[in-house]
Amino acid sequence: MYHYIRLTKTEEADLDIFDKCYAFDTAREAKEKGMYPYFIPIQESRGTRVIIEGKELIMAGSNNYLGLSWDPRVKEAAIEATKKWGTSCSGSRFLNGTLAIHEELEARLANFVGRQSALCFSTGYQTNLGAISALLGRDEHIFSDKLNHASIMDGIFLAAGMRGKVRVHRYLHNNMDSLEKFLAEEPRDAAKMVVTDGVFSMEGDIVKLPRMKELCTQYGARLYMDEAHALGVLGATGRGTEEHYGMKNHADILMCTFSKSFGSLGGFVAGDHDIVDFIKHQARSLIFSASMPPATIASVGACLEIIEKEPERVRRLQEIGRRMIAGYKSLGFNVSVSETPIVPLLIGDMEKTILFWRELFDGGVFTNPVLSPAVPPDSTLIRTSYMAIHTDEECDRILEIAGKAGKKFGIL
Ligand SMILES: Cc1ncc(COP(=O)(O)O)c(C=O)c1O
Repeated sequence: MYHYIRLTKTEEADLDIFDKCYAFDTAREAKEKGMYPYFIPIQESRGTRVIIEGKELIMAGSNNYLGLSWDPRVKEAAIEATKKWGTSCSGSRFLNGTLAIHEELEARLANFVGRQSALCFSTGYQTNLGAISALLGRDEHIFSDKLNHASIMDGIFLAAGMRGKVRVHRYLHNNMDSLEKFLAEEPRDAAKMVVTDGVFSMEGDIVKLPRMKELCTQYGARLYMDEAHALGVLGATGRGTEEHYGMKNHADILMCTFSKSFGSLGGFVAGDHDIVDFIKHQARSLIFSASMPPATIASVGACLEIIEKEPERVRRLQEIGRRMIAGYKSLGFNVSVSETPIVPLLIGDMEKTILFWRELFDGGVFTNPVLSPAVPPDSTLIRTSYMAIHTDEECDRILEIAGKAGKKFGIL
């Protein structure tokens, strides 16, 4: 039996590294007011419904876009793989954690996105962390959208921490004039890479890829695109942002996570064999971390097969996205720039956002509040997101509850 002991400062120590922890009361205060929207334990999960605090809610805040983490074929694949290979690889890909099924999955993923090679990591976060920090060398330039996912920024920070001077340029969100301004300031022959989300995770808007590609060609930059919210979501067959624009192989590196449309956990990068091979031998988050476990590999494989065979799921998801955007707009919500099944409701006031989130929650809808510092205080929002398995009735019910709550708090 272990006893929790709160450490006390030694008499001599003026500064204690833990002072900030004991002084941290933001979360506790919010909990006391019943206004703490994070780390909420889900007691049961049943596709589009969840049980929280003993009550059933419609899930409108998951990234399980195609609903595949609930597909019986995917569950079965995970169970079978566990029976055959066990629960863990117990080591990194580099040494003892590469199974034949890792390489089979990588070949299938490369084929799906039309690239020579792919490489899987254990989480999407580790994928960006490892790949970007591997690619970005000393005195090389990276141009990153201001609203790119945190894992992209952390990849840049890691490169800077390891190599010292890396040149970071953060351009205005999805603003190609701003990107061009930064690109034009650097010598044509300097090593450069532009990095962007394909679909932005909080805003639900799509990168302006055609213009971005022209700029990359004009200024001699490589393009790295994070398709976490785009594969399985955009394009007639779910092949993402390039398919959405009818463009093939415009990004030099494609990255994606498995925690969204692929109903699982992990991530991959895909591109030319030599680039992927370089990342494989340099990425610290791959080399120093245990590999994707068998159940996860098999569930991603099963999801991939379903996405390839059943593109109608992708179309249903897109239809729901359009339906919700139109529904919110007709109620008078500011749904900002969304063009996808990620539909943020812009509120722009910290307190109102939390009250509105709680009203939705009490009304039976689970959503995600996005507050400062994740966004500026005047841009706080409720992120809603949808799944191909939501029924029309569920969509209408969500709109009805949101409409009522919007009126109550003067948001419409
Ligand atoms: C754009 C983007 N990239 C990377 C990640 C990290 O992926 P994961 O959560 O699967 O580690 C996320 C996760 O939310 C994301 O939204």
